[in-house]
Amino acid sequence: MKRIALSTGGGDAPGLNAVIRAATKTAINDHGMEVFGIRSGLDGLFEPGGVFPLSHSDVRGILPLGGTILGAASRGNPFKRVVEKDGEEIIEDVTQEYIDRIKLLDLDALLLIGGDGTLHIANELHQRGVDVVGVPKTIDNDVGGTDVTFGFDTAINIATEAFDRLHTTAESHHRVMILELMGRDAGFIALHAGMAGGADVILIPEIPFSFEAVCNKIHQRIARGSKFSIISVAEGAHPSGGQKVYKHAGDDGYITRLGGIGHVVGKFVEANCGAETRVTVLGHIQRGGTPTAFDRWLATCYGSEAVRLIARGRFGRVVSLQGRRFTSVKLSECLAQPKRVDVTGDTVQTARAIGISLGDES
Ligand code: F6P
Repeated sequence: MKRIALSTGGGDAPGLNAVIRAATKTAINDHGMEVFGIRSGLDGLFEPGGVFPLSHSDVRGILPLGGTILGAASRGNPFKRVVEKDGEEIIEDVTQEYIDRIKLLDLDALLLIGGDGTLHIANELHQRGVDVVGVPKTIDNDVGGTDVTFGFDTAINIATEAFDRLHTTAESHHRVMILELMGRDAGFIALHAGMAGGADVILIPEIPFSFEAVCNKIHQRIARGSKFSIISVAEGAHPSGGQKVYKHAGDDGYITRLGGIGHVVGKFVEANCGAETRVTVLGHIQRGGTPTAFDRWLATCYGSEAVRLIARGRFGRVVSLQGRRFTSVKLSECLAQPKRVDVTGDTVQTARAIGISLGDES
């Protein structure tokens, strides 16, 4: 009988609990495995009670719950510990401590659920002989090797509802309403929710924008009788030749945190486009609460498929949805090419065709 352990890393995303539930049920029902949960990312490996058994009753009722019953850890790489040596800070590789601990706990395989950071950790462990399988998670949808990550659908539904609500004030007060959405390096949320929510301008990290183009669009709409405009902006969007905007630059030991580009655009629009402007930053509301039906389905299929990979001994892989088929790709392959919005693809072309400005027109 195999002993497998589940861990959720990085920021939470709607659907994590659905993965945990499906993986636990599949492992017990179909493969007679013993299932364990690891608390707070991989840190739980070292905590008293940090690795605990998961049974049917532990996963009962968690399908519609947001967050993760295991807890997550979203700091950098746990294998790189900052220590002081001779008055200097150095980074020590402590991967072996984790590997020894996994052996000591007699765990045969790990199922790591997370985004880019967690999957890098999974790959590192795999290369050092640990039997690992990954499940791709992130609301940003920027993990390579799969068509879609769970969490994304919920995020765009929440963001779309926000656009619908912002339209009310935009139309009533003849204002420009800006909604800043998550998306560090990939603009999928801003693009898809922007299109679904009727945005007039969509600014994404993949397409550097010009402030003039944004203004032109607003003026064009006013000239055609539309006295309001809606702007969707990804937190990682930036003007061409300019920098991303950080709320936290990371120079004092904290992890860098994006945020503020919505206000930068808002200030410019109000000062230069003759339009009263308001900015909303949706933030973690995009990651909170119950997953959509699509994310529950996707997360369930991912969790179950990941256990089948473990049962077949197909380690070092990450589950993937390609078209309508669930399959898997090597972790190294999935990490080699993070997913980005295809700037010449169908979705961007459609956005342009229906008159949405991507901020790059002259
Ligand atoms: O990776 C998902 C994500 O939502 C990013 O879009 C965002 O920059 C980040 O997480 C925020 O993370 P935190 O919870 O650490 O603020």
